[in-house]
Amino acid sequence: MYRSRLPQDAITTPEFAQRLANLSHALQESLCVMVNRRGQVVRVGLGGPNQTKMSPLELPRYGSERLSGLRCLTTNLRREAPNANDLTAMALQRLDTLVTLTLNQTGYVDRVFTAYLVPESAMPDATEKLGVAGWTVSEPQTLEAVCQEDFLAIVAGLEAEFRREFIAEAIDLQQDRVILVGLITDNQPPERIPFKLIELQQLVESAGGAVVDLLWQKRGHAHPQTVLGSGKIEEVALTAQTKGANLIVFDRELSPAQIRNLEQLIGVRVSDRTEVILDIFAQRAKSAEGKLQVELAQLEYRLPRLVGRGQALSRLGGGIGTRGPGETKLESDRRVIQKRIVHLQRQVDQLGSQRARMRQKRMEQDLPTIAIVGYTNAGKSTLLNSLTKSDVYAADQLFATLDPTTRRLTLSDPLGRKQNLLLTDTVGFIHELPPPLVDAFRATLEEVTEADALLHVVDASHPEWAAQVKAVQQILQDMPITPPPTLMIFNKIDCIANRATITDQYPEAILISAMQRQGLDTLCAALFKMARYAG
Ligand code: GTP
Repeated sequence: MYRSRLPQDAITTPEFAQRLANLSHALQESLCVMVNRRGQVVRVGLGGPNQTKMSPLELPRYGSERLSGLRCLTTNLRREAPNANDLTAMALQRLDTLVTLTLNQTGYVDRVFTAYLVPESAMPDATEKLGVAGWTVSEPQTLEAVCQEDFLAIVAGLEAEFRREFIAEAIDLQQDRVILVGLITDNQPPERIPFKLIELQQLVESAGGAVVDLLWQKRGHAHPQTVLGSGKIEEVALTAQTKGANLIVFDRELSPAQIRNLEQLIGVRVSDRTEVILDIFAQRAKSAEGKLQVELAQLEYRLPRLVGRGQALSRLGGGIGTRGPGETKLESDRRVIQKRIVHLQRQVDQLGSQRARMRQKRMEQDLPTIAIVGYTNAGKSTLLNSLTKSDVYAADQLFATLDPTTRRLTLSDPLGRKQNLLLTDTVGFIHELPPPLVDAFRATLEEVTEADALLHVVDASHPEWAAQVKAVQQILQDMPITPPPTLMIFNKIDCIANRATITDQYPEAILISAMQRQGLDTLCAALFKMARYAG
């Protein structure tokens, strides 16, 4: 079969189809033959389309804007039309067409079904819409009729349609199209899951991506090689195809081997939560030190993940997770990267000592320092702005602030006594802050540990505020020194109706709205006291 050559413009010849039928009849097994656009047989496999499919990286061409350039001829001994599994296999491989030859008792081809993928926009209502893929399956035809079909013209028409749809999408969004994937394991409290995925969506959007779909699976534990089960991975691959996604983001940290396996199976770049956070930091870092720290964290995270990804990455393109202030090419030699890591580490250490000297100077000025900490998006920058009337960047994005900003604030009490203090806005905290980032932002976090007192800002309007408080407290506890005294501030109270749940749990806390300037007087009075005490 491998030596046969088919005409380019016909799906098959009657002789070739019959030869395949004879073999299949003799073996009493289904057979599949893959033929490329040049008419060459590139694979012969035992079994139906689902058992013999090729992985995305083996296909001649791949991507949602085109077909793969392969057609599959398969035999069916039970005289059945292609079923959903066969058609899903066609969609996964983006086959030019799937031709099902049904055989009669004596091994002759009696009917032929041709199936084509169709773009979503061109799908008539009557088209079979199984799952997420769109395809049409012909009525049973004779072999002669199928051989006379103008195959190339049909495929060219379809490809033009796919391309139009793809371009429309690309113009629509000059950004990554992302599918989020979550895994629900037995040891996770179920009520936290939606919030985890919502947070992941916010992270992806903060990194500049558009979330096109969200999939999750329940499993006892993560599959060691591929995180998800094989059926779910097919669903992810298929969804990526039909929604034109170019990036899959998992809600957990993936091992280098898992990323490699998943990219092989799905054919689209795979990334994880840590990489998205690193990407946001890469885009936001402004100061020289911030940039150095992010680049260092990215390189340390990526180094073990480089092996064997060269091919996949060069095919799968850039976007979230591939940017960095240093624009280090991922395919670069590992040794060069290792050298750069050492070099960056040295520079970061140097900057750290410069920072320590500056801190020393500030301390000599004898001004008490109060650091604002809190979960990302709690409103820390807005509070600093409201208190000091300065213009720190505040936005409804995660990690809008990266570099610590320090402002001087002068407060007075009812007796007219004045008190100066320094207020520092710090990087937002988040659940499971990726370890490379904690390490890289050591210098920034030192601002926190060396402050005389902390303001812990909580977004009271967030349904998960209690979990966020715990996450922040955990990060503070993990720091090498005992955290300074902390005042709890519940922000955004303009958005909540019931304050009792907060005041019952935190009777000492101060309730404010940084944006609407509510409760700021009480806060200033408390700050005055804290600064006095510290001074
Ligand atoms: P990161 O930089 O991500 O750590 O964020 P942040 O804690 O500095 O938050 P930021 O000040 O950027 O505010 C986040 C969002 O919350 C912005 O859209 C603010 O407008 C909004 N916000 C801040 N304070 C209030 C408030 O009192 N009420 C309401 N309704 N929204 C607020």
